Amino acid sequence: MTEVPPHLLERSRLARQRMTGEGGDAPAGDGAAASAAATPAVASSAPAVKAPVEIIEAPPVIPSPMVVAAEARPKIPFWVVPVLIFLPIWGLMYAGTLERPPATGGLAFEGPIVYAANCAGCHGGGGGGGSGRALNGGAVVETFPDALGQIWWVANGSPASGVPYGNPNRLDGQRTSLSFNGNPMAGWAGSLSAEELVSAVYYERIEHGGQNADELEWMVEWVESAEFPEAFEGEYELPASEAEAIELLRLWTEEFNHEEEVAAG
Ligand code: HEC
Repeated sequence: MTEVPPHLLERSRLARQRMTGEGGDAPAGDGAAASAAATPAVASSAPAVKAPVEIIEAPPVIPSPMVVAAEARPKIPFWVVPVLIFLPIWGLMYAGTLERPPATGGLAFEGPIVYAANCAGCHGGGGGGGSGRALNGGAVVETFPDALGQIWWVANGSPASGVPYGNPNRLDGQRTSLSFNGNPMAGWAGSLSAEELVSAVYYERIEHGGQNADELEWMVEWVESAEFPEAFEGEYELPASEAEAIELLRLWTEEFNHEEEVAAG
């Protein structure tokens, strides 16, 4: 019989001790070693001694109420993240839209566009004149101290040849029709909307005539009012006589505190 190395004996002793709960005595000396060597046979022949392996089921984990609450709480959905990031930017953009547009918005915006498209060809981009009269350097306001007179002129065009129009006290004498280069200017009532026409007049008076926009605020209010389309929209026609046309326009604009000083003598 070969000698069993002591470390194997020790291992088997420990194994037995685990299975049976006994035999804890450490082998001391050869005698003990010999008896220990025989022991495995004894152990294997008596499996009944083996302690039944108790299977302990893990108790169900009862999560703490705090964990339950945390998990039940609605989480931030994924799509909300970009929304949250964009929110301050959107806030700034929205704040920007809260400002009221300038009161002169419509006419001030439309005027230069209408003028460039319809009038600049004859009157020059800066109102310096060409095949149409010069309007700049205050000339147009000198001819028509009242914007209503200019509205009539642009809508009606040149009256019959030689008919005086505009300011009778003009420094270099009252204007007469077809006196510039012998050509008439055709009326614009048929081709411009009333608002476009008024916007061109508004632009010429401020840009070329040098009039203060504050004095023409009534035009802006008039065009933006409900009365404007009623009175002056669609197939409009002003009387061919300047005086009559001004009278009618004055009626239409009365409510807008149209108080321009008319230099009619
Ligand atoms: C085809 C050329 C032509 C175009 C385009 C034209 N005009 Fe004229 N305009 C004239 C001529 C010519 C006169 C002078 C008419 C006359 O002596 O009877 C004139 C005169 C005027 C006058 C009078 C100026 C003064 O001091 O007597 C005004 C105001 C005026 N035009 C405004 C306009 C406006 C506003 C437009 C655009 C909507 C316009 N014109 C487009 C040719 C033109």
